[in-house]
Amino acid sequence: MPKLVFLTPEGERFEIDAPNGTTAMENAVKHDVPGIEAECGGACACATCHVYVDEAWTAKTGEPEPMEEDMLDFAYEPQPNSRLSCQIKMRDDLDGLVLTVPAQQA
Ligand code: FES
Repeated sequence: MPKLVFLTPEGERFEIDAPNGTTAMENAVKHDVPGIEAECGGACACATCHVYVDEAWTAKTGEPEPMEEDMLDFAYEPQPNSRLSCQIKMRDDLDGLVLTVPAQQA
């Protein structure tokens, strides 16, 4: 099962066993990662699941879809490596993926 790592602005590190096919957001909510509110429940309609993808992983997680891109405009301080964590589906080649919760969200 792939491992998923969340880093928080307070320096906390969450290492989660994230089943294939689940979204990064679902795993964050399940493990109470602070700052991932996921108000819309994963419908790509709230931007409260915004994360920064570690630079080493951006090629593998890929580019946001146009709908996600539009939603990211509503996120706090979006950066080129911003994604909505409800749009990242776990799979074996994302084993070790590192996501950071933006400071303003936590
Ligand atoms: Fe609302 Fe991801 S949970 S956009």
